[in-house]
Amino acid sequence: MRIFIAIDLPGSVRERLRKPGVEIPGARWVPLEQLHLTLAFLGELSDADCRQVAARLAEIRSPSFPLRFARHGCFPHPRNPRVLWIGLQPEPLLAVLAGQVRQAVLDSGIPQEDRPFTPHITLARCRQPVAGEVGRFLAGKTGVEDEVVTVREFILYQSILGSGSALHLPLQRFPLEAGK
Ligand code: 2AM
Repeated sequence: MRIFIAIDLPGSVRERLRKPGVEIPGARWVPLEQLHLTLAFLGELSDADCRQVAARLAEIRSPSFPLRFARHGCFPHPRNPRVLWIGLQPEPLLAVLAGQVRQAVLDSGIPQEDRPFTPHITLARCRQPVAGEVGRFLAGKTGVEDEVVTVREFILYQSILGSGSALHLPLQRFPLEAGK
């Protein structure tokens, strides 16, 4: 099973993240129902490894916290934009949760890439570089400047790849502690 761990977004926020007003040739926009904030990508796991990591994730204790959106950005570089995303404002509790998730994954014997956590929500992927249009996307308004999302859970997902876009199936939800 292809597995990742992510934070889901409310439907009203997904709606507002719909295609920003920029046409980017060849861009494949992520379907609204799939928009998510990835905490960790685990790749192909056996059922046993999946159960093991789920048990570790269930031990994580974290309070609920707010998410606020930041600017558009891209990977790997504005001169070669392949993944277009919206960033999140720094939130210490998000960084701590991502660290706990990473540790739970590593403790389950599943390797993780050694790069810093850059919280983002992927909006589109580009097959070929289209730097001009992407420049307008990067400079453009996100439409969610005033949104605040309270994160109350994180989710272990299975990603089922098909001919079209992948299907993301929630396997297990891990609630955060209610705020004061
Ligand atoms: P991203 O889009 O948030 O950057 C489900 O496939 C999620 O796992 C994707 O949204 C992607 O995160 C992440 N992902 C997919 N393949 C990956 C890979 N090879 N390495 C790291 N993350 C990956």
